[in-house]
Amino acid sequence: MATIYIENEPRQADASQNLLHVLLSLGYDLPYFCWHPALGSVGACRQCAVKQFRDEQDTTGKLVMACMTPSLDGTRVSIKDREASEFRAAVIQGLMENHPHDCPVCDEGGECHLQDMTVMTGHATRRYRFGKRTFRNQYLGPLVNHEMNRCIQCQRCVRYYREYAGGHDLNAFRLRDTVYFGRFEDGVLENEFSGNLVEICPTGVFTDATLKRHYTRKWDLQMSPSVCVHCAAGCNTSIGERYGALRRVINRYNHEVNGYFLCDRGRFGYEFVNNEQRIRECVVNGQTADLSGAMVRFGAILRDGKCIGVGSPRASLESNFALRQLVGPDNFYSGVPDEELSLTQTALAILKNGPGRSPSLNEVEQCDAVFVLGEDVTNVLPVMALRLRQAVRQQPIQKAKQLKIPLWLDQPVRELLQDEKGPFFIASPYATKLDEVAVERVHAAPDNIARLGFAVAHAIEPGAPSVSDLPAEMEALAHRIAEALRSAESPLIVSGTSCGSRAVIEAAAQIAWALHRTGKAAKLSFCFPECNSAGLALMQPQPLSKAFQALEQGRAETVVVLENDLYRRAETRKVTAFLDAARHVIAVDHLPTSTTERAEIVLPAATFAEADGTLVNNEGRAQRFFQAFVPTGQVRASWRWLGVRPEADLSTNGHKWQAFDQVVAALVNDVPELAGVQQAAPGHGDFGKVAREPNRYSGRTSMLANISVHEPKPADDPDSALAFSMESGPQAPPPALNPFFWSPGWNSIQSVNKFQHEIGGALQGGDPGIRLIESKAQVVPQYFSEIPSAVAPDRVNWLILPCFHIFGSEELSRTAPAISELVPSPYIAVRPEDGALLGVKSGERIKLSVGEEACELEVAFRTDVPQGIALVPSGLSPLNGLRLPAKGRLVPVAEAAYGVVK
Ligand code: SF4
Ligand code: SF4
Ligand code: FES
Repeated sequence: MATIYIENEPRQADASQNLLHVLLSLGYDLPYFCWHPALGSVGACRQCAVKQFRDEQDTTGKLVMACMTPSLDGTRVSIKDREASEFRAAVIQGLMENHPHDCPVCDEGGECHLQDMTVMTGHATRRYRFGKRTFRNQYLGPLVNHEMNRCIQCQRCVRYYREYAGGHDLNAFRLRDTVYFGRFEDGVLENEFSGNLVEICPTGVFTDATLKRHYTRKWDLQMSPSVCVHCAAGCNTSIGERYGALRRVINRYNHEVNGYFLCDRGRFGYEFVNNEQRIRECVVNGQTADLSGAMVRFGAILRDGKCIGVGSPRASLESNFALRQLVGPDNFYSGVPDEELSLTQTALAILKNGPGRSPSLNEVEQCDAVFVLGEDVTNVLPVMALRLRQAVRQQPIQKAKQLKIPLWLDQPVRELLQDEKGPFFIASPYATKLDEVAVERVHAAPDNIARLGFAVAHAIEPGAPSVSDLPAEMEALAHRIAEALRSAESPLIVSGTSCGSRAVIEAAAQIAWALHRTGKAAKLSFCFPECNSAGLALMQPQPLSKAFQALEQGRAETVVVLENDLYRRAETRKVTAFLDAARHVIAVDHLPTSTTERAEIVLPAATFAEADGTLVNNEGRAQRFFQAFVPTGQVRASWRWLGVRPEADLSTNGHKWQAFDQVVAALVNDVPELAGVQQAAPGHGDFGKVAREPNRYSGRTSMLANISVHEPKPADDPDSALAFSMESGPQAPPPALNPFFWSPGWNSIQSVNKFQHEIGGALQGGDPGIRLIESKAQVVPQYFSEIPSAVAPDRVNWLILPCFHIFGSEELSRTAPAISELVPSPYIAVRPEDGALLGVKSGERIKLSVGEEACELEVAFRTDVPQGIALVPSGLSPLNGLRLPAKGRLVPVAEAAYGVVK
């Protein structure tokens, strides 16, 4: 720590940080543009000028840029100094000369950092009377809009997009006052994290194109703290509603999880909530039914008994628990393929019973050597990929430390490091976006990936079983990876369920355990498929196949399916037979699916925007999401539909729980593994009221005047401390309950500065969520001894593997209109030489048969696919429920028509 003097007052400061960082951390207001806590300082905008004095006697001082000045002991600065204030006002006046001043029609208006900084500098009068520079805007795709005239040339967008997120197709073009930030030509932004430009850009150049289509001023949104439901990372979000529609999703800073950023699936996938196809009324035998009629029928079926329930990894813990209570734990089935459940439980057991700590995403970023086994992280757990890109810099950045270059001094650090990468290795079935930052990468069948992993463990610690017949180049690679992990300060192994291989997961654990035996605490991170895969697995459901058996063997007659399309979970034939065998099928879901089509009763389920719930992310962190608005029609939380007492008259009452806290209390009481869930967020009575609507919320009295001129009473919320109103208690809410960041004078998302202990660090009051899983550092389990045999290419029984797509592989986001534009068409990918062996050309069709299932797909040639392997897009193939990996036959369609089988 250092003592610095601000306006002659001594203050304690972090000496390793720059002055801007320190001043903001201490709560001072100082305008800035080009600096961002995640990007460091470049001194480009000259907006953060302060006066620095040599010592107490120095009354003249000199102007310095706070973001470019270290906070050394004894530093004396003034923000209020007249010259510094005038300098800042002059800078903003210069920036505003070409700014269009179109705030009233700008999408950013009302939460614009440029507006805030303009007010903060006191620049209130426009004196420039001449023509302004204008640009042509570009089409950047369905997610992000472009309005270049608003640019103030701070450079943040390009620095974020290229240097932080690894994008290649956005850049700065031209010179002097015509510098242009955009693409070389119009086209969809290629980077999976392009939506963060909306928040990174301090003005309205890059804006949310999905919000534009149902635009609402930011202060008119009713908001709630939420958690993304589109993958297992559990990014924290603020979601905003107006007139019963979800209007947008923005980042909600959580230091340990998503930090400042979201991926595009998470930011723009929300529109499934507004889908016209939403199920909003009860349906009985294909006909819309009134509530009491549906409940009478529902109760009658439940009272018939012999009822089983199928849970869901995309439903909350509470909804899964309600179903489990309704049918009994022995009749509660997982709703995911058996292999997926078993792999998830294996990974969770490894994390709980061994020494490998499951790191938060913030910890992932701090790791200085990484080995990824079998995962396409960018497409499966996107925001982790963003963190891994920063982890790659951890070792090279030590050079800057040795040369005493402050790490926040972004450009000198980048000049020094150039393209140097830290030890980052990937072994995956096909090329992934992260390959470009890996020092070495290998593409192989899952069993061969596992063999490499086991060989790495053996190379680290010879007590781990060796791998026989490993090709020399793999053996050498295993030694290089082992050496890199062994010599790292904080090694990380990443794996998961994506390639459906237990051996790959075990190999990842083996490496962590081997490192532990050598005295190195390795972190172990597993990617899971869906937002609550871990939570569902922790409830110990029965395998789905046993549900099929229960019906087949007549042990059950009724099946209740919770937020789940079973046709995505198992082969069509099996699911159809299962549903045919059921006397009654009851489905609870948001959108029509092949499963709801088969249901006798369909109950309309609330989405994450309309209900409260808890999800457990891949780290094992339980996080609470809260409803933003009261849904229309008969829509209600699944746990309310299912939390009933069948013996009661369900048309009038019969609810087990009146409020969310009661379900949570029952859950933690019943499932010891989930005992921590109660601490994920304060309950209804634990905190005074928290307003979902900002102070500036307008139209409250007239919004529904077309229906009635009497202002309706705001809805009550019995489930949380959040209120559907502008009225809040006097205290600032704890982070888990905070619907949005706002502070006087800070209307943009940069206001998060005011909520952190220190800029870029933890939130005041603690980052939301509670870790349910902790490793056992003192226990090193016995090594796995079963090492799979090498896989040789088989061009008769091809190995069919899933290929993941950020846009398309996830069930809910792909129905959002903007995302659906980016979903690829189904295909099957093979190596060109394998295509030649099959006698097909790229673009021709091939018949894929797996067991009794078959479909035709267009062939795509990819040189990254290993020999004898064919990739099909996960969640997109016509064989949606196909369990992969699987062995399959490939026959060109022309030949298949004549019955030729190769
Ligand atoms: S587009 Fe935005 S982020 Fe990029 S330079 Fe201009 S103002 Fe800065
Ligand atoms: S990384 Fe996952 S949780 Fe985070 S925003 Fe993207 S889809 Fe949502
Ligand atoms: S923020 Fe300091 S120069 Fe831009």
